[in-house]
Amino acid sequence: MSSSDWQLRHKELTEAGLIVQTSALPKIEKLQSLIPLIEAANSSGVRLLDGNTVEELMSIVSHEIDDSSNGKKYLSQSTLSKSKSEPPIGRILAPVGSTTPPPLPISRHSSGFSREDFPLEAKEIDSDISIHFDITGNSSTEGKITDMQSCFRSRLSQIREMMLSNGALPRRPISNSEAWKNRRRYNSRDFEITIVGLASEVNWTRNGYMRFVLEDESTQISCMIKPPSDAHPLHPSLDGLMDDEIIGVTGRFSSGERDPIFWVDDIHKPPLTSHSKSQSGEDFAVSAAFLSDVHFGSKTFLHAQWEKMIYWFNNDPLARTVKYFVLSGDGVDGVGIYPGQDRHLTIKDLFKQYGELARLLEDLPEWVDVVMLPGNHDAVRPAEPQPALDPEVQQDYSNTVFVGNPCDFSLHGVRILSYHGKSIDDFVATLRSVSYSKPEMAMRAMLERRHLAPSWGGKTPLSPEPEDRLVIPVVPDIFVTGHVHGHYVGDHKGTLMIHSSTWQDQTDFQRMLGFKPKPCILTIVNLHTYATESVHFA
Ligand SMILES: [Fe+2]
Ligand SMILES: [Fe+2]
Repeated sequence: MSSSDWQLRHKELTEAGLIVQTSALPKIEKLQSLIPLIEAANSSGVRLLDGNTVEELMSIVSHEIDDSSNGKKYLSQSTLSKSKSEPPIGRILAPVGSTTPPPLPISRHSSGFSREDFPLEAKEIDSDISIHFDITGNSSTEGKITDMQSCFRSRLSQIREMMLSNGALPRRPISNSEAWKNRRRYNSRDFEITIVGLASEVNWTRNGYMRFVLEDESTQISCMIKPPSDAHPLHPSLDGLMDDEIIGVTGRFSSGERDPIFWVDDIHKPPLTSHSKSQSGEDFAVSAAFLSDVHFGSKTFLHAQWEKMIYWFNNDPLARTVKYFVLSGDGVDGVGIYPGQDRHLTIKDLFKQYGELARLLEDLPEWVDVVMLPGNHDAVRPAEPQPALDPEVQQDYSNTVFVGNPCDFSLHGVRILSYHGKSIDDFVATLRSVSYSKPEMAMRAMLERRHLAPSWGGKTPLSPEPEDRLVIPVVPDIFVTGHVHGHYVGDHKGTLMIHSSTWQDQTDFQRMLGFKPKPCILTIVNLHTYATESVHFA
């Protein structure tokens, strides 16, 4: 069969709602007409055609009956028999006359995710993972004050360079020391200047002006901004600034005072223009599943729902598209993470928690590769960036790639930035727009600042790496976090943002705070089309 013939046949089958795998090709080639195959597939509720299915469906077709009264031939109403142990082939959307409930009463929220967009099953496709940044084995800090200074300088120069090369500033900035030296000259609108530095000591005056300090390598300058009358609530003068985030400001010094302040007319953020996503190849489309915060070993781990997910993985045709399972930290509940944690644990031994988590993951289909990051409950240093789990822990796992937190990696060319999300605590504490019920606002704020965790001395322990590796140098196609135990899927300026769900029920602490988690939601993304599906197991 020529390739154009095959393309026509493939199109005809696809238009009939069938998904054709390459193993079906030799069988389909031999058919005179596709109509009997399509009819048999429809009457059997089959959507996925592989070599075996085509053979079985064609055996139904051979049971043609001859209606001698009108001389016409009809297909019998035979359908494929299914043994109890055999998983259903394809998805029966509305089985006519069936009284048995569907095997997977699972609600979904889809953005056009379709099994038909995957020419092959995930098990037929080789893994393609490349790591761009992972601190594991690359940490070089000695924890000295000079490392910290170097980390801040590195942050300032990386983000200032981004601003300069993307035209994010109205003019070339001058250094704070030069600005201060010439403060008497730069004191009118005719002599406005732009400076860039780390913001700190943010507060508001009684009349709503925002005050802060801007510091570069040499000098601190006190700044003040009056929020514009038409300012959006997300304008930094209303929303706030994170301690130690990098901004540029344009303005002038006040005159006639002993300690003049810098009156800011405009605040400039690092560049974040509309991002154009890379796609995996159409012929090798696979999907990735995202989850975080399993908290295995805790009494609130949701066992029954996990079993339901494993059943889904082994039975639902959609699961056959899932090549990767990204776990973004807090895989186990850990030991000694907070005072009194012991009474919330079913497994009080840390290595047993990891051993049992390995066994849980063994139940995933063998074609699924796991990518696992640590979080703040894991047995690695808490200071970020965190290295991957210890090799002693790793040896219990198969099909798992262990990486640090954060990790910048690609799956089939799709660039993913996965970060556990501990710094969301700092964003909630600082920015007016961010709350625990809206972790996506913190994710948005991270992208806008091109930094995952800017605040030193806040709730997020940071490792003073001489080169600041928490800067976001490359805008990701997919940005994923966890930690807060919520759930979100959405877009921000072309980046798909996923806040991964947890597998832990509401804890006593969360109940006390009135926080309701959103557990047991698996987020699946087609790495070619970026269509998503959120599968609910709770
Ligand atoms: Fe967590
Ligand atoms: Fe966490």
